[in-house]
Amino acid sequence: MGFWTARQERAADEREADGLWWAWRQACEGAGLCTQTDTASGPTVVTPRLVDIVLGPPTVLTVALLPGQLLSDVRRVALRLAPHLGAVALRITPLGQVHARIELLAADPLDGTVELVPVAPGLVLLGRDETARELVQSWADDVAHTIVQGVTRSGKSVFTYGVLAQLAADPLVTLCGCDPTGLLWRPFAGTRHAAWQVSGVADPAAHEELLLRLVEDMDARIADLPADRDTLEVTEANPLRVVVLEELAALYRVADAASTTKDPIGKRLRALVGRLLAEGAKAGYRVVIIVQRAEASIVGSFERAMCSLRISFRTDNAASVELLHPGAPREIADQHTTALPGIALLSAPGEELTRFRAPYLGGYPEYVAAVRLACGPELDGPTAIAA
Ligand SMILES: Nc1ncnc2c1ncn2[C@@H]1O[C@H](COP(=O)(O)OP(=O)(O)OP(=O)(O)O)[C@@H](O)[C@H]1O
Ligand SMILES: [Mg+2]
Repeated sequence: MGFWTARQERAADEREADGLWWAWRQACEGAGLCTQTDTASGPTVVTPRLVDIVLGPPTVLTVALLPGQLLSDVRRVALRLAPHLGAVALRITPLGQVHARIELLAADPLDGTVELVPVAPGLVLLGRDETARELVQSWADDVAHTIVQGVTRSGKSVFTYGVLAQLAADPLVTLCGCDPTGLLWRPFAGTRHAAWQVSGVADPAAHEELLLRLVEDMDARIADLPADRDTLEVTEANPLRVVVLEELAALYRVADAASTTKDPIGKRLRALVGRLLAEGAKAGYRVVIIVQRAEASIVGSFERAMCSLRISFRTDNAASVELLHPGAPREIADQHTTALPGIALLSAPGEELTRFRAPYLGGYPEYVAAVRLACGPELDGPTAIAA
């Protein structure tokens, strides 16, 4: 009995493996992951060779890339391959130099929330990618300026809460910036950060004053750079200044409405932000711009070029993805228009376009509690300036 069952199971496995072998070949052909050569007997299509199949779950394919192919070529068409292999998504990781390990996933690897577990001082957890890799960056070394875009309720603020909660306790960081929504800086009341924070929209001049103060501080830092250094050494006396510009479009809108020909405050705000972006990186400044859509009227190509870390939560269309991630595959950009809150695309130096899920700290009360805990007993300082 056992013998026959084993035989039947083996036969079923063989059929499944055969099916996958064919499905892989045809899906590659359909998705264009192949080369075509003309031979005397007609055109011949060559697809990446399937060298091993481990039937799961999870089912794992090992594939030998064709000469000239990169792992990113397979990742690019993963969405086209997955359904034909009976999977919802593929997790593709390198195996040696020329092989890929392809795990067939029954669910989106980014389903479920990612808990925010602080990594180490100076390091920021941005999220977890489709291969379950934690995206951790040193805000002082790896990152220049950052831009975050996404439609309403896509997860921008929750992401920002996570970043701020991780940086708040670091004595080498001051959290500065403008927040027209009035929510971001509330928990910082009384901390050493609050003197560099402006909330609300009632008085655009308060935002201008803060940005001016930051630019002056930046200029002084650059003027004081020692002769043998071209970047500031971050110390407690000269901390990294992370300048968060939450809902920058809203701030510009309010400033533009208050602008007159004699007093163009909107233009001045743009110029100050432009200076922080252009000259701030070497002076220990890290600007974080948060907008719904990184359109040219808010962040021109110059500002965009200064932002080496670019993150897009759900966008309204594929063209918005293109604004921050030029050359992103069309199918990934299309898929991103229906992304769940907290799921984002990331472009960073040395990283190919990465889909990831941002950590979820909880709602606003948890953010307030995390900041209060991080800032500890230093709660008798200034409160944020109300604009
Ligand atoms: N990383 C995440 N994991 C799980 N859920 C999330 C995550 N990020 C956001 N959400 C959910 O999405 C909701 C909206 O997120 P958030 O307030 O950050 O959006 P937003 O992009 O800032 O929107 P708005 O432009 O309206 O301010 C949150 O209340 C939360 O329920
Ligand atoms: Mg928000």
